[in-house]
Amino acid sequence: MANVTSRLNPAIWPATARTDSKSGELSLGGISATELMERFGTPVFILDETDFRARAVKFRSAVEKIFGPTAKVYYASKAFTSIATAKWLAEDGVNLDVCTGGELAVALAAKFPTNRIELHGNNKSIAEIEEAIKVGVRFIVADSLIELDRINSIAGLLGKKQSVLLRLTPGISAHTHESIATAHEDVKFGFSIASGAAMLAAVTALNAEHINLEGVHCHIGSQIFDETGHILAVERLVKFIADVKKNQGAALHHLDFGGGFGIAYVDSDDPMDIESVLTRIHAALTELCAKYEIEIPSIAIEPGRAIAGPAMVTLYQVGTVKDVLLEDGKTRTYISVDGGLSDNIRPALYGAEYSALVANRSSNAPTTDSRVVGKHCESGDIVIRQIALPSDIVPGDILAIPATGAYGRSMASNYNHILRPPVVVVRDGSARIIIRREKISDLLALEEG
Ligand code: LLP
Repeated sequence: MANVTSRLNPAIWPATARTDSKSGELSLGGISATELMERFGTPVFILDETDFRARAVKFRSAVEKIFGPTAKVYYASKAFTSIATAKWLAEDGVNLDVCTGGELAVALAAKFPTNRIELHGNNKSIAEIEEAIKVGVRFIVADSLIELDRINSIAGLLGKKQSVLLRLTPGISAHTHESIATAHEDVKFGFSIASGAAMLAAVTALNAEHINLEGVHCHIGSQIFDETGHILAVERLVKFIADVKKNQGAALHHLDFGGGFGIAYVDSDDPMDIESVLTRIHAALTELCAKYEIEIPSIAIEPGRAIAGPAMVTLYQVGTVKDVLLEDGKTRTYISVDGGLSDNIRPALYGAEYSALVANRSSNAPTTDSRVVGKHCESGDIVIRQIALPSDIVPGDILAIPATGAYGRSMASNYNHILRPPVVVVRDGSARIIIRREKISDLLALEEG
């Protein structure tokens, strides 16, 4: 596209997002929003390949540079997964975290090297554990004593010894939404260090014939904006490794401190620079290992949102616009789009905020207090609760919502029998579908009545 400018906040929009300086039209990967809408329909998730891969590689280079060549990034599939993205990660030297048989199946379909996969989950089924051990995943991250027992017996039956990490609960309240904070004491995840459950798990795993206990793991929460929680978690994990060494004479040599690195959804969000965060965590780790007299463990991290989130944009078409008179005498413009909580549950679930741009044209109209809503049958179906948008938005306009790559398509539902949107990859002026739009026949295919 000619006349491209970058009036878009690079913290929120993918690397190749541009607006045409004359028409105002948005382009992604060199393709205009109108063309994307005409070719693929709406709603549609547009995934910027260049952006996704650059973020993944940036994490990998940063951990290798800061923690040394043994350090690994395990991309958290739950943020968004597909065969195409798993193939990119495999090529780009990034490992994969899966937490269900379904996520593992995608990895296997992508021929992802199984010795670069770890399996998570607080209630893995026997079938999931069996499949993971059979295909040879690098780690199973164990979450309970019952599970340690299952891993040990299944590995025994398969004639294998399975490498295991213990998911620990370091007792930290991460500064984020309650539903996505995961490491305070009263949670379903992991073994609490404070209560002694973690030490019991370590002893159990060390004594299990078919388990090779290699290290510890924690994940303190998601969408976190400062590193104090991660540093505190690392401190508690390092102390735990030292205690295991002292009490059991066993050296745990691997420490995985999870994901959770926050991203920008709106202009006021100020995400951390990942290299400086990791540098500060590394400094703390080095000091702590010296203090507790243990060798520095090999490190892994599990970013999901910070890789997939900003790489995707949702395009919706506006269907209706109406002004609603509020109690205080003001009006609010309700802009209804052709998706909603079935493709983005985050505003309803976490009060998450998003930005929006009229993507098919520029507008010089004054802005008006607006609410972007979906087409579902409940008033909580809100995409953006409050935003100033041009007052001349009309049916047919395209609205682009950036930073929808993480926990958007992956948490999508068929509520109201809506068809889940496709994911289209754009790169260097070309576009291809990597996940197709659902069809009514997909929904009806489940019916057996
Ligand atoms: N590792 C583990 C063990 C996790 O449970 C998670 C996320 C991650 C890594 C990746 O975290 P991230 O880097 O993406 O923050 N649906 C919520 C987020 C739930 C996160 C669950 N676990 C949301 O939409 O905000």
